[in-house]
Amino acid sequence: MVDILTSSLPQSLNNFRQIADNLPIIRLSSIVKSNDAASAEVLILGSGAAGLSAALRLAQAGRKVCVVSKGTLAGGSTLWAQGGISAVLHEDDSVEAHVRDTLIAGAGLCDEAAVNFTVERGPGCIEWLIEQGVVFTQAEGEDRGQRLHLTREGGHSHRRIVHAADATGRAVETTLAALAQSHPNILVREQGVAIDLIVDKAAKRVLGAYLLDRRSGRIETVRAKAVILATGGANQVYLYSTNQFGASGDGIAMAWRAGCRVANMEFMQFHPTTLYHRDSRSFLISEALRGEGALLKLPNADGSAGERFMPRFDERGELAPRDIVARAIDHEMKRLGIKHVLLDISHKPAEFIREHFPSIYQHCLSLGLDITREPIPVVPSAHFTCGGVVTDLRARTDVIGLYAAGEVACTGLHGANRLASNSLLECLVFADAAAEDLIRELPNLPEPPALKPWDESRVSSSDEDVVVSHNWLELRTFMWDYVGIVRTSKRLLRAQHRVDLLRREIVEFYRHYRVTHHLIELRNLVTVAELIVRSALERRESRGLHFTSDFPQTDAVAKPTILVP
Ligand code: FAD
Ligand code: SIN
Repeated sequence: MVDILTSSLPQSLNNFRQIADNLPIIRLSSIVKSNDAASAEVLILGSGAAGLSAALRLAQAGRKVCVVSKGTLAGGSTLWAQGGISAVLHEDDSVEAHVRDTLIAGAGLCDEAAVNFTVERGPGCIEWLIEQGVVFTQAEGEDRGQRLHLTREGGHSHRRIVHAADATGRAVETTLAALAQSHPNILVREQGVAIDLIVDKAAKRVLGAYLLDRRSGRIETVRAKAVILATGGANQVYLYSTNQFGASGDGIAMAWRAGCRVANMEFMQFHPTTLYHRDSRSFLISEALRGEGALLKLPNADGSAGERFMPRFDERGELAPRDIVARAIDHEMKRLGIKHVLLDISHKPAEFIREHFPSIYQHCLSLGLDITREPIPVVPSAHFTCGGVVTDLRARTDVIGLYAAGEVACTGLHGANRLASNSLLECLVFADAAAEDLIRELPNLPEPPALKPWDESRVSSSDEDVVVSHNWLELRTFMWDYVGIVRTSKRLLRAQHRVDLLRREIVEFYRHYRVTHHLIELRNLVTVAELIVRSALERRESRGLHFTSDFPQTDAVAKPTILVP
């Protein structure tokens, strides 16, 4: 398959750091307000769009919350989101049209109630973000100052993507993080990794969580009346991904261990256009480029842009839903034995490109690629986890007091394939739903009892960190090779066999040695891999993002894959 990574993991990490250093970012103080979060009314695990918006909504209603982030507060996939947030904001557009587009992309598997719920609440969430101080790009021409500029992305029948140039996530995340950092009702815990939820299994009620403090190595027991999982997706389970390293499916794995159902894990979304460059392996080239006219072309022998190929695959061309575009690229790359295809926007005026896509333009230029003059080499890579922890319209999970919002959850909005820019929307809508429910329910939830501290008997440090990194690489490599864009039963079974072996090894390792950040992530990644492969094997048809050559047909009746722990 795609051969773009030949170097080690730390280099890719550096890559991210380089990008971060080159983009404007509000630097948040690394000083936490308090290091002691032994108990919290609401414990929020994750500080992306979902976690921070839930925290602010609860705090603004007078509730005390603790927000935990694995790294710095402004982080997660949210920080890197480019294209924007979909919402019905133009008089020519309608809730019905947005619902219809979402259902079409979801290939028969969306939950219509969840789709209506989300789409209807979209404009209110954008308004809330503006009230918090997020600055979005304004419309041009005579509408300047009157309304927001709306861009377009694949699968959308209208222009409905609100954005802050091509760094929408940065605008949202840094604004919300700055507010959370200074809110008196919010306790911020940076560099804290949730290891596991603490659950009263008999009552099926959450009581808190164990947290590893990355700085001290200490494991704390945090009691809470309620916990919101907002830990994002699991896309680092694949070797090539647009996501940062923290996207290891921790929330999905923790919820699964806590007794929650997990659904639709076979629907892992591959974004069609990630930059293909030796020195930059996970940089997204936003779908908004295609929305503004960029074309996908095959490279000629001399590297120049040749035939435009998308019309051969779908009448919507470059603006077909992502599963179709990613599969078409994968097909052409395999058919021709090429390492990438080209995305060409150079026919648009240079000023337009620089104004609409300043971060992408700058990043490519820093690598010697002038996108106003040359086509961009691109490949698909793992981008979004459509499945996750099963939740209802109040963001409740199967465990009392445990909520899930954002990419960690399976709300029913995305079905078998997520429509572009519907993810940030889902984060905002379901974080609001969780906060609304908690504001009502918190008085009825009992105080958690005193909890057992973490078992400190496994104190021996391992000298086998290298095993963790080898297992990490092995897992992500075979997931890419066997559970990628096009699947077969034989490859899935091969992956299942390897997952089993790795799981046993990791569980053994986990039992005996001091828990580290990387070991926690690896343990969760192997659980997520297992859930993906199991779900993929259960689906004996091709639908949306799940395509298997052994069952290329789409069944008449669409059923979600729900795994019960
Ligand atoms: P995240 O923003 O991923 O945040 C997860 C948080 O959980 C982090 O704070 C992390 O530190 C924390 N965490 C994780 N595990 C633990 C743990 N064990 N303990 C403690 N904390 C933990 N979607 C759109 O709608 N529009 C876009 O334009 C768009 N562009 C994208 C571009 C890129 C490059 C990527 C990668 C994704 C994009 N997406 C986009 C998808 C979207 O950004 C994500 O789905 C969304 O931001 C997820 O938000 P979240 O709050 O659920 O999680
Ligand atoms: C992009 O900008 O292409 C990402 C949009 C998304 O993932 O919704």
